[in-house]
Amino acid sequence: MSKRNREQELMSQLIQSEKMAALGLLVAGVAHEINTPMGAIHSNNDIMTRAVAKIRKLLGPAPDKEISRLLDILGEICRNNEIATDRIMKTVRSLKNFARLDEAERKTVNIHEGIESTLTLLQHQLRNRIRIVKQFGDIPEIECLPNQLNQVFMNVLVNAAQAIQDRGEIRVKTWTAGDAVKISISDTGIGIPTEHLSKIFDPGFTTKGVGLGTGLGLSLCYKIVQDHHGTIEVESSNQGTTFTITLPLEA
Ligand SMILES: Nc1ncnc2c1ncn2[C@@H]1O[C@H](COP(=O)(O)OP(=O)(O)OP(=O)(O)O)[C@@H](O)[C@H]1O
Ligand SMILES: [Mg+2]
Repeated sequence: MSKRNREQELMSQLIQSEKMAALGLLVAGVAHEINTPMGAIHSNNDIMTRAVAKIRKLLGPAPDKEISRLLDILGEICRNNEIATDRIMKTVRSLKNFARLDEAERKTVNIHEGIESTLTLLQHQLRNRIRIVKQFGDIPEIECLPNQLNQVFMNVLVNAAQAIQDRGEIRVKTWTAGDAVKISISDTGIGIPTEHLSKIFDPGFTTKGVGLGTGLGLSLCYKIVQDHHGTIEVESSNQGTTFTITLPLEA
């Protein structure tokens, strides 16, 4: 690697780690701010659901038609609130799980959890447009830096979603191969031209235009996977792209 490339890489690593530290603090603060009032709404809704049931019981077998209709509406609102608050709480949990601020150290984890949280966070980008197919194998827990691996999944998944112009599919597969765990993320997107394949992991290489991509995503992935003594490989055609990450069980 040339001196200039090394400097570029160091610079991009610095930018990324500062970005992540700032993001981590933000996530912790926001998650807390959302969780507390959401907990209140969730339990108030519980009380309301039971109150509606109680009123219905008090009214007896032949209640007034209008009151009955209003109770139906209230019951429906309670059910919708329950679904909505569950969803918000699930997203907040995923955010916290994704940032894993309490766990900036090596840990033995099931990486499926990290992949699931990342997918939950990406839901709004994928919904209706991209079908997610999960083919999770029976893989052992691995020793790793979970928050860093989650960043790898996030970067590769965001790239996959961005490569799909209209509708398409992203397939996430995991399996065990000898002393390693493999994760592949395939998309049905535009593909990567052969002449770009050797450059996509370079810091700063982007085809997304000014202000859209920093070109740091994959270089960061490369660095993180390397720190785990693993590899990240790419295969692409005009039918789509597959990134395969190999992580040794004892990294
Ligand atoms: N799944 C993919 N399909 C097609 N092209 C891809 C895919 N993943 C990466 N690329 C190509 O590799 C380039 C580098 O990706 P990288 O994630 O490093 O940067 P970026 O996505 O352009 O910017 P950023 O990640 O900062 O938003 C992309 O600009 C794109 O040209
Ligand atoms: Mg990217």
